[in-house]
Amino acid sequence: MVAHCKEYGFVFPSSEIYDGLGAVYDYGQNGVELKNNIKRYWWDSMTLLHENIVGIDAAIFMHPTTWKASGHVDAFNDPLIDNRDSKKRYRADVLIEDQLGKIEEKINKEVEKAAKRFGDSFDEAMFRQTNPRVLEHQKHFDELHARYKKAMNDSDLAELKQIILDEEIVCPISGTRNWTDVRQFNLMFQTEMGSTADGAMKIYLRPETAQGIFVNFLNVQKTGRMKIPFGIAQIGKAFRNEIVARQFVFRMREFEQMEMQFFVRPGEELKWFEHWKAFRLKWHKALGLGDEKYRYHDHEKLAHYANAATDIEFLMPFGFKEVEGIHSRTNFDLSQHAKYSGKKIEYFDPELNQSYTPYVIETSIGVDRMFLSVMCSAYKEEQLEGGDTRVVLNLPPVLAPVKACVMPLVKKDGLPEKAREIMNLLKFDFKTAYDEKDSIGKRYRRQDAIGTPFCITVDHDTLNDNCVTVRYRDTMKQDRVHINDLHALIANAVDMKQLYKKIVGDSMEDSME
Ligand code: GAP
Repeated sequence: MVAHCKEYGFVFPSSEIYDGLGAVYDYGQNGVELKNNIKRYWWDSMTLLHENIVGIDAAIFMHPTTWKASGHVDAFNDPLIDNRDSKKRYRADVLIEDQLGKIEEKINKEVEKAAKRFGDSFDEAMFRQTNPRVLEHQKHFDELHARYKKAMNDSDLAELKQIILDEEIVCPISGTRNWTDVRQFNLMFQTEMGSTADGAMKIYLRPETAQGIFVNFLNVQKTGRMKIPFGIAQIGKAFRNEIVARQFVFRMREFEQMEMQFFVRPGEELKWFEHWKAFRLKWHKALGLGDEKYRYHDHEKLAHYANAATDIEFLMPFGFKEVEGIHSRTNFDLSQHAKYSGKKIEYFDPELNQSYTPYVIETSIGVDRMFLSVMCSAYKEEQLEGGDTRVVLNLPPVLAPVKACVMPLVKKDGLPEKAREIMNLLKFDFKTAYDEKDSIGKRYRRQDAIGTPFCITVDHDTLNDNCVTVRYRDTMKQDRVHINDLHALIANAVDMKQLYKKIVGDSMEDSME
């Protein structure tokens, strides 16, 4: 995936000519189109389908007290440990989780071996309950898991180190157990605003976009005359100094979030939590990547300010992983900002004739993780008849970076001019490409590799009958289509309205009852 994204202009390592920068990436000519289409799909699903959701675009820099109030200065930490021999730094929790993964692997290997040995008569549940080796591994797993959870809950750094020592976890580079103590590391990037001479102010690059919404709650509510329940949506960059940054754009140091905070009456938050949980899953599934690739992961351990939380996970090539979080954040954030700013942040509810601090349901999805899930599920290597192979991206046409590529069969006889004429008919509504180089077969392959749903070939007959050959990406079938019908053909396939209908039906409005 990494190689394909680079070769076809989706994602490049940041500042690659200087050997790149860890966990920072640039989106190329096709990547940015796909990313913009994802953002458009999300933004419109919030602001068009809901007349009580509006958007904002807050600054990345915020007053530093914002982050004190939100809890990020004191508690947005990862536990770190260094290996003295390799000088490599690790997240202590990740080392222990990897260890848990290894024990699970051992159990799975025992089960696989037994399944092979016993064939059809194999009873997996019984085997797991009775096999002494599996039971021994399971006991080890359960004890380690319980100890690890407790250490994390208690923020007990000494105990985390002790677990690493007791489990004899070694540094993957040096192979030694020469570990430092575990210490907390804040994930926020800091910089300074103003010149140092006249007292620069320490500020942070925002680690989430949500706080820009909370501090603007009153501005939007009052100027927009918003009535509860209502939501504020925002798309923007966020920054985290991730220690273990891996799996390509899954965990980055600079990434993009699409967040919506939905403000509700106290006591009604769990009803709205369920509503948004269901709505967001429908949004994902409407793309048609495969319903079986999604699952909820409800949080057992909640942040102190949350009273419900769930993740929507997607089946990536490296397992089910969080793509989106839906959180019932109570009135924590607004109350904290009221406390730290000294301003009253309340809503007067005319129906109840009372003022209160609204409760909040948050939906928070990473654009880059969404990008990765779409790309991973779209990428196919296909064996064709005649021994040929092709790489194709079966992207949902609404998200495809290029919707159609117009190709003159040859570079002469007036065919390029005719092709340009067709481009002009389409280009203001759809991202369209033009390609006249190499054989038609090679041109098809290039478009397959970036997921273009339609290739339009102009041949000599086109000059007489105004018809072109349309070749469909997924089936590779070809049709003869009149030039006047091309616009409708493409519009129908790439219309986001089709997806919105799948989510909310023909009413095209999310029921807020
Ligand atoms: N405001 C809530 C919040 O930020 P989060 O679970 O920390 O919650 C929300 O982040 C989403 O942002 C995640 O589900 C993920 O899609 C994305 N995200 C978080 N950290 C990321 C990172 N380092 N790289 C890419 N995406 C990330």
